[in-house]
Amino acid sequence: MAGTILITGANRGIGLELATQYAADRWRVLACCREPQMAKDLRSICETTSGRMSLYPLDVTDNERIRELAIQLKGEAIDILFNNAGIRGSDRQSFGNVDVEAWIQTLRVNTIAPLKMAEAFVEHVARSRRRIIAIMGSIMGSLSENASGNQYVYRSSKAAVHMVGRSLAVDLRSRNIITVLFHPGWVKTDMGGASAPVSPGDSAAGLRQVLACLSQKDSGRFYDYEGNERPW
Ligand SMILES: NC(=O)c1ccc[n+]([C@@H]2O[C@H](COP(=O)([O-])OP(=O)(O)OC[C@H]3O[C@@H](n4cnc5c(N)ncnc54)[C@H](OP(=O)(O)O)[C@@H]3O)[C@@H](O)[C@H]2O)c1
Repeated sequence: MAGTILITGANRGIGLELATQYAADRWRVLACCREPQMAKDLRSICETTSGRMSLYPLDVTDNERIRELAIQLKGEAIDILFNNAGIRGSDRQSFGNVDVEAWIQTLRVNTIAPLKMAEAFVEHVARSRRRIIAIMGSIMGSLSENASGNQYVYRSSKAAVHMVGRSLAVDLRSRNIITVLFHPGWVKTDMGGASAPVSPGDSAAGLRQVLACLSQKDSGRFYDYEGNERPW
C-alpha cells in the first residue's frame, strides 16, 4: 500500500529520483528543496502526479524553517522521513589544506540537519504506519573502510551522521520508529561525477526496495542500496 514520504534535496540527483519513483508508485511525496521555483525537473514531474506530490521550500540548515514546515504539515502522517540533502564540502579537504568554514557548513547540512529534521517531524513519523527515518550516510564515513585517507570534511560529516542515526535508533525505539542509515552506491550525480558506475535510477530503486522490507530489528543499521549491511 502506498504511503507518504518527505524527501530533502528532492530537486536533483538521488533525491529527485526518489521523488519521481515514489510518485510513480502512487505515494504522496512531500518534496523539499531550497528553491522550488527553480526546480524545473521536479516541477514538471509534480505536474504529472495528480496532486500526489507537493513542493516545499526548505534549506535544511534553517532550523526555524524546519520548525515552520513541521507545523505547516502537522496533519500529515509521514511513513518515511528521508534525509537525503547533502554536500561534499569543499575542494580543500586534504591534510594541511582544510577549509574550516566549509567544514562547519558541511556539518550543518550533512550531520546536524538530519537530527533537527527528526526532532521536528518525530510526531508525524510516529503516527504513520511504517515509521521510518532514513538518513543518507556514506561508505566515505565508514571508519573501517577508510584505507585511502584524505577527504576530512566529507568523511567526518558522514561518520558523525552515522552516530546521529545510531542514537536516534536507541532514543526512538520506544516509539517503534526505525532509523536506518544508507550508502546509495557511487552514483552518477553532480556529487558522484560522470565516472560513477551506478545510475540515480538504480540507486533510488534499490533504496526503495530496502526501505520496503525494513522491520524494527533493522533500526540503527547501515545498508547500501543493494541491501547489504555495511561496516561502520
Ligand atoms: N552520489 C554519490 O555517489 C553519493 C555517495 C554516497 C552518499 N551520497 C549522499 O547522497 C545524498 C544525495 O547525493 P547526490 O549524489 O544526489 O548529490 P547532488 O546531486 O549533489 O544533490 C544534492 C542535493 O542536496 C541538496 N542540498 C544541498 N545543500 C542543501 C541545503 N542546505 N538545504 C537543502 N538541500 C540541500 C541539493 O540542493 P541544491 O540544488 O539546492 O544545491 C541537492 O538537491 C547526499 O547526502 C550525499 O552525501 C552520494
